[in-house]
Amino acid sequence: MTTTLPPAPGVPYFDWSSRYEGWTDHVLTAVREAAESDEFILKSRVAALEARVAERTGAAHAVAVASGTGALTVILAALGLGPGDEVVTPAFSFISTASTVALRGARPVFADVDYDTACLDLGAAEAAVTGNTRALLPAYLFTTHPDMAGLAELAGRRSLALVEDSAVGLGATVDGLPAGRHGTAGVFSFFPAKPIGGAGDAGMVVTDDDALARDVRMLRNHGQDLNVRFLHHKVGFNARMDEITAAFLLRRLPRLDEFLTVRRELAQEYNDRLAPLAPDLLTPPGGYGDRAVYTYVVRARRREELKEFLAGEGIETVVYYPKPLHLQPAFAHLGHQEGDFPVAERLARECLALPLHPGMRPGAVAQVADAIERFYRGAR
Ligand SMILES: Cc1ncc(COP(=O)(O)O)c(C=O)c1O
Repeated sequence: MTTTLPPAPGVPYFDWSSRYEGWTDHVLTAVREAAESDEFILKSRVAALEARVAERTGAAHAVAVASGTGALTVILAALGLGPGDEVVTPAFSFISTASTVALRGARPVFADVDYDTACLDLGAAEAAVTGNTRALLPAYLFTTHPDMAGLAELAGRRSLALVEDSAVGLGATVDGLPAGRHGTAGVFSFFPAKPIGGAGDAGMVVTDDDALARDVRMLRNHGQDLNVRFLHHKVGFNARMDEITAAFLLRRLPRLDEFLTVRRELAQEYNDRLAPLAPDLLTPPGGYGDRAVYTYVVRARRREELKEFLAGEGIETVVYYPKPLHLQPAFAHLGHQEGDFPVAERLARECLALPLHPGMRPGAVAQVADAIERFYRGAR
């Protein structure tokens, strides 16, 4: 007699209910608190969150905004970027690193990325600097970060602003300095999938520059004077954070290290299990000790087949990012073509994000690794 085992439960990718398990009451408390205090936008809870992030990063100023994209937007506006200006930024990244530049009327000048970190390559960045370059805008991606010390040296030598897109990097330490603290200004995102996700969109700017911080504060609120209502010094934006979001994030932030520890352990478990599959599958660079693990992204041969195979096993995966920025229709006017940034293009063909978040059920990483092993080794 044969017994049939019940099928293993699937492994969803975003899995919002597990990510936020136990947090529903905190969301409701945050709503009640804000409502009962009669404070809704840019009030005491937002100020408290700014103080906490400044404390955590050691930045002189933290300015809360409505999203990570909003953070980049107000920084680039505060720097006065406009038509004729160029910003060197990676060809492989989330759209915000380039779209926020283009929205200023400035030109995103793409540079290729490093194959192992998927982040802006220092040599390529230097080669892309021209007499019109005003800023470097590198991004942290997945579990990795660019060569921030090298980029800071380049920015200093060429008198460029360095805007650190550490949207996914809150809590990381790079070369002994917290993420966000390596350049003119840094940004964080609290999008729900990030290591500290909010109850919706939210972001933060950090900087040591007093004048920049003041301008960013104005720009997030229509360029309005910081004391006088309806007096507008600049043409600004509505990029304000609300009190409900801040109240919720004030409860989440103290758990950052705990969340990061679990994320690092899960990433290491994947690395340990999957490293032997090289060269069919390459794991992210190990040594997660001081890094912020956001998404766990492998480089896979036969990626589409692997993705489909895993889907058949109930394992959800996501492709970050299927098209490099220079080939996006939104940037067609820049006149790039295939072959311009070969590493970015290769990563767009190979990258695959596996499920990873602190609420994963025990055994889920092993289940994913077993399935990947079966795919490449052909054993069923
Ligand atoms: C590298 C990078 N930069 C910027 C952002 C923008 O953050 P937000 O979604 O909060 O606007 C993201 C978000 O996914 C990101 O991954």
